[in-house]
Amino acid sequence: MVFMKKPTSRILIINDENLILKEFIKGLNSAAKSLENPLGITFAGVTTAREALQAIQDDGDIQSVLVDDTLYTLKNGEKGSRNLQMTALKLVQEITRFRPELDIYILIAQEKEDEVVDALFTETVDGYFYREERDYRGMYRILNAQLQEKARTPFYDQLKNYVLMAKDAWHTPGHSSGDSLRDSPWASDFYQFIGEHIFRADLSVSVPMLDSLMEPTGVIAEAQKVAAKAFGARRTFFATNGTSTANKVIFQTLLAPGEKLLLDRNCHKSVHHGVVLSGAHPIYLDSSVNKKFSVYGPVPKQTLFNAIEEHSDAQALILTSCTYDGLRYDLPPIIKAAHAKGIKVIIDEAWYGFARFHPAFRPTALEAGADYATQSTHKVLSAFSQSSMIHINDPSFNEHLFRENFNMHTSTSPQYSMIASLDVARKQATLEGYKLLSRTLELAQEVREQINSTGVFRVLELVDLMPDEVKHDNIQLDSTKVTVDISRCGFAVEDLIRELFERYNIQVEKSTFNTLTLLLTIGTTRSKVSRLYDALMRIAREGRAPRRLYHIPEIPGFTNLKYLPRDAFYCGGELMPLLDEQERINNDLDGKVCADQITPYPPGIPVLVPGQTITHEVVRYLISMLRSQKRVEVHGIVYDGYLPCLRLLTAAEEKGLKKLVK
Ligand SMILES: Cc1ncc(COP(=O)(O)O)c(C=O)c1O
Repeated sequence: MVFMKKPTSRILIINDENLILKEFIKGLNSAAKSLENPLGITFAGVTTAREALQAIQDDGDIQSVLVDDTLYTLKNGEKGSRNLQMTALKLVQEITRFRPELDIYILIAQEKEDEVVDALFTETVDGYFYREERDYRGMYRILNAQLQEKARTPFYDQLKNYVLMAKDAWHTPGHSSGDSLRDSPWASDFYQFIGEHIFRADLSVSVPMLDSLMEPTGVIAEAQKVAAKAFGARRTFFATNGTSTANKVIFQTLLAPGEKLLLDRNCHKSVHHGVVLSGAHPIYLDSSVNKKFSVYGPVPKQTLFNAIEEHSDAQALILTSCTYDGLRYDLPPIIKAAHAKGIKVIIDEAWYGFARFHPAFRPTALEAGADYATQSTHKVLSAFSQSSMIHINDPSFNEHLFRENFNMHTSTSPQYSMIASLDVARKQATLEGYKLLSRTLELAQEVREQINSTGVFRVLELVDLMPDEVKHDNIQLDSTKVTVDISRCGFAVEDLIRELFERYNIQVEKSTFNTLTLLLTIGTTRSKVSRLYDALMRIAREGRAPRRLYHIPEIPGFTNLKYLPRDAFYCGGELMPLLDEQERINNDLDGKVCADQITPYPPGIPVLVPGQTITHEVVRYLISMLRSQKRVEVHGIVYDGYLPCLRLLTAAEEKGLKKLVK
């Protein structure tokens, strides 16, 4: 039997009359003791709004709040110390702003309860109790039931139930609950390694009680509905092929072929693939660059405002916030400007799915007004890889079109454990996200201090990371992404990564030529932090002399988009080598149009997209990448034997295509 920790749930009562407060705490705690209490509910109380806000900040186990409406009727200046208090309305607003995941209840003490209800109508209040009834058991039952509702995972619960029902499988998948593997002399080790339940829970659409991801009406619909509430969306959809697919689904919903999309050139490759698939006319916006550390940052605010003005006919704008390095846009003014022109805003929050659950990371994209947010729940919360969410607040959301596109990209055999993991990740984020993220933030601060104390490695703070072009753009840094300057440690970055891996068992997230990035998540433990510190301190104490680091050249600016990426991509094209017979830059490429997306990784930004004009400078850059001492993959290059080539449009193909007008 595995030992499972029991949850603790505290419910905070705020009432400025000490005697009444004590009576309520006593009555409710005794109800909690005598009735079923699987969530470990206890009641605690404070008398002032200030203490209440402090408790909500300090105590991650608080799940619900009971606010007495007498605070609401208190007038400023009525009696000395009471001046410190705020109205119940203001308090409810403050609590919701700080921790929107908490349940809020109002204790009505006044005669005119309808006035109280009216005043709080626009706030997210989960229920009301009439104080004079003193029905502690009744109150406890409701509070407990509502908390249990939040702790429910509709899809995961059903999946577990189904597995426990042990039905005979006369359907896919072929392993049939693992029966094909269990006794195999050749493959039973896989069964043992992966675990019995992964196979038992790997079921098919033939099981109606598990609903359908393609047309959810049962437990998947329910799970998505609770997720929408938790993430502050009107609608939420679970995606089982990552944010890569989520971005494509949204593009195909919002953009008809030829319609304009404003996008950061540094968007993830799925965004560029989405441009090809949707047939959109992309308007690329150059990201800011921190040349010292080869870090690509946000698009400058002014560039965005200018683009919105110049391309007010665009259908949508997509930006990544926060970026892989943790740089976060000041989204509200940008979204406001886009909306003023009727442009929909999509924010790729692949790296920011936890942000809703701690005020240090907010506002989220949706809170800032975005129409769509895509999140790789698997990257930063407890979901399985590929499990993502699409959150929607678009007031003119076209559900039918979205559904058609969602289904176009979704396998008819989705992995049910992934859907369950999204359900559980939502529950965990709602009930203990604040607590876990507070701890992650603390660990991030410790990691920063420890790394700096080595005297050799240095953590880059916002001022170091932020490119000059965005210095006045109110950019924020997500401190759970820790970028470290390694230039004084005496190792080249690849050697340092190898040393950390082989000698200290540490695998980092990513690197540039002179930095390493470490990702802290809600799964980061104190032990891992101390092992990292130990490793970096030992390396620092070895006292190697700093060495010259090979600097990857900056990617050339965007040239000219001659044709729609989709039109260019679907041409057959011809191959042309990057080098001529003397191994020099092939000048014949100059002015030709590329049919593929060419992306050196790192940094992962396309140097060429289909339909883009090739220049001498671009070819020189690609050759320098291919010849680089640092291992750089250049995606999109075609090898004709050993000759690296680009696929280009032929003259005849160009003749048949319509040129783009800006
Ligand atoms: C900014 C950004 N968007 C989207 C993705 C794709 O996410 P997924 O891995 O969930 O498909 C990534 C993955 O690295 C990313 O960095």
